Amino acid sequence: MKHLTKVLATTALVSASAATAAELEVVHWWTSGGEAAAVAEFAKALDATGHTWVDGAIAGGGGTNAIPAVVSRLLGGDPMGATQFNHGRQTEDLIQEGLFLDLTDLAEQEGWRDFVFPSSLLDSCTYDGRLYCVPVNIHSWQWIWLNNDAFAKAGTDVPSNWDEFVAAAPALREAGVAPLAVGSQAWQQAGAITEVLAVAIAGPEAWEQVNVAKDADVAAGPAYAAVFEAAAAARDLAADITVTDWNLATAAVIEGQAAAQIMGDWAQGEFAVAEAVAGEDYTCLPGLGVNPVLSLGGDAFYFPKNSDADVEAAQLELASLMISKEVQVDFNLKKGSLPVRGDVDLSAANDCMNKGLGLLADGKILAGANIALSQDTIGQVNDLIVQFWNSDMSAAEVQEKYAGIIARAD
Ligand code: BGC
Repeated sequence: MKHLTKVLATTALVSASAATAAELEVVHWWTSGGEAAAVAEFAKALDATGHTWVDGAIAGGGGTNAIPAVVSRLLGGDPMGATQFNHGRQTEDLIQEGLFLDLTDLAEQEGWRDFVFPSSLLDSCTYDGRLYCVPVNIHSWQWIWLNNDAFAKAGTDVPSNWDEFVAAAPALREAGVAPLAVGSQAWQQAGAITEVLAVAIAGPEAWEQVNVAKDADVAAGPAYAAVFEAAAAARDLAADITVTDWNLATAAVIEGQAAAQIMGDWAQGEFAVAEAVAGEDYTCLPGLGVNPVLSLGGDAFYFPKNSDADVEAAQLELASLMISKEVQVDFNLKKGSLPVRGDVDLSAANDCMNKGLGLLADGKILAGANIALSQDTIGQVNDLIVQFWNSDMSAAEVQEKYAGIIARAD
């Protein structure tokens, strides 16, 4: 009898989920080793419900290929089950067009406002008081990643800040190690300069004056002159190695061909896959060891409206899973990002993740460019920086052009 009950219960469960099982095509740009390991956690969690995760990865770091492809599909009436965007202003127009499923009721039922930390992550998802996305992580641009052995080989200490790193460069070169690996795509160079070097060298207040208040005088002033001088120095330090994708630059650091990379903490996922140990094999310095802060970037998922009720039910289930405690921990430990909830067990966090958690707890946070600037302005900055990076444009000239973009920015 006991056995029969169990069989009946199992049958009921199977047929219940079979009746509503749906396939969800999920578009994202997570194709590096660390990224793929992290996104597999989401897929596993969805598949365990009886629904099917249909992977729609579009390669290209920073979403450079995925974002335009997704926008054109959505505007062309060809919605996917779910799609990644960065936190911030990328979806402003799409939300206004009414293209996304409203998640407000789900979020209220599950009390997202009570546990999402910082709650500003939900504000980026909110339009006219309604919620349209689920934030899945906090990623910060504000890091430099250093290979400890590379500095040992050069006979120098592992630097604790940007100036010490610049000072170590001749010894690194002497030892046959490229000082800095920077991928050849605009978003990587622009991030390193206008997010990371700017915050480290001009300071978080000046960064906010430029990016949030759009103060072109600060962008044209002395604090930013020092930023672009450091950018010209970085351009020189990066001349010894040519790579394209961000994760290949990270691989060059992991393998010791290069000593350092300025990159967001998604790089940490690559170190994890390579089984490198934070604090032993590599060192991470938030704010380049000068101004330690976290910029609030990261990823959120949106669920395009769909006329099929089964698909909609599966979309809500995926949203709920992505923000659930267990999935938040499993996903973020692999991704190198911080969870969006403050009530999860992070005892497995490594040295670098703990540094990030400490900054978050101390409220040392900044908005991040995708939140502060429109996509149009970000595009103009990227175009300028890639030109600077691939020429001998002077620090003074790039600064003047940059200040012009900020003067027109929205
Ligand atoms: C995303 C990260 C991703 C990185 C590189 C960023 O825009 O927030 O999740 O790993 O791009 O692709």
